[in-house]
Amino acid sequence: MITVEQLSYAYPGGLRAVREVSFQVNAGEVLGFLGPSGAGKSTTQKVLVGLLSPYQGEVHVLGRSLRGQGPEYYEQIGVGFELPNHFAKLTALENLRFFASFYARTTDPRELLARVGLADAADQRVEQFSKGMKMRLNFVRAMLHDPPVLFLDEPTSGLDPANARLLKDIIVEQREQGKCIFLTTHNMHDAEEVCDRVAFMVGGEIRRIGPPKELRAQSDVRRVSVAYREDGEVRTAEFPLDGIGDDVSFRKLLREREIVSLHSLEPSLEDVFLQVTGRRLT
Ligand SMILES: Nc1ncnc2c1ncn2[C@@H]1O[C@H](COP(=O)(O)OP(=O)(O)OP(=O)(O)O)[C@@H](O)[C@H]1O
Ligand SMILES: [Mg+2]
Repeated sequence: MITVEQLSYAYPGGLRAVREVSFQVNAGEVLGFLGPSGAGKSTTQKVLVGLLSPYQGEVHVLGRSLRGQGPEYYEQIGVGFELPNHFAKLTALENLRFFASFYARTTDPRELLARVGLADAADQRVEQFSKGMKMRLNFVRAMLHDPPVLFLDEPTSGLDPANARLLKDIIVEQREQGKCIFLTTHNMHDAEEVCDRVAFMVGGEIRRIGPPKELRAQSDVRRVSVAYREDGEVRTAEFPLDGIGDDVSFRKLLREREIVSLHSLEPSLEDVFLQVTGRRLT
């Protein structure tokens, strides 16, 4: 549903924030974009939703080139921006009704507000909203017209775990309905939980892309965890799995201590990210 080939974008007078990026997102799939601050994630989203041009490369959404798209494009896509931008003097419901007026067909705004725990705040002015409330309003606004393609830029950022859960459940539900979802996040756990595939972006480039499980399985940063008894206490030590047979301290431990347990540790997505990019996420 989204096909991106060799996409590059440079801000006027700035460096290339996106560099020859290629990927696809299918129907019923969530693609997660992960990367440190400044990697180019939001810029990629802004190009794909038609906010930044000119760009190099090709973008097709629902079989049509982005270059030829007119206002009807916005009937097909829902966009959740990184920073919520609402009308502060209007209530949550008024905000949604205003945005609903741009679309041919919309779902019931009150129902959407209820889904994200904002039913009681529907008639409250947005200027009185907390950050998390604004984020949730921002999220449902993207889904107002039930579009087949969703772009969500850090939708769970700054949310408490219970509200983040609500949003993740809705994302998964949207995927199950066959929606195509482009999701940016800093959160590895969220990415593992809701993304079918993740792309690691650094310096405007995609360094690796694939299902989280596969990326972890392909990684050679596997380690072995050993629990052993020493002075009556259980302690643990970790060793790289590669070359473990020749690891002197590992062999010494096996020989000299009582071993309580021994198991291999799967690398976390963050381990893989660090290995691939040499960078931490934030
Ligand atoms: N309006 C702009 N004008 C010029 N440069 C910009 C503009 N917006 C972003 N940039 C630059 O483009 C690069 C990518 O920024 P972008 O916002 O896409 O990063 P990001 O991956 O979304 O980061 P974050 O995780 O902090 O949201 C950065 O170097 C940033 O400074
Ligand atoms: Mg961003």
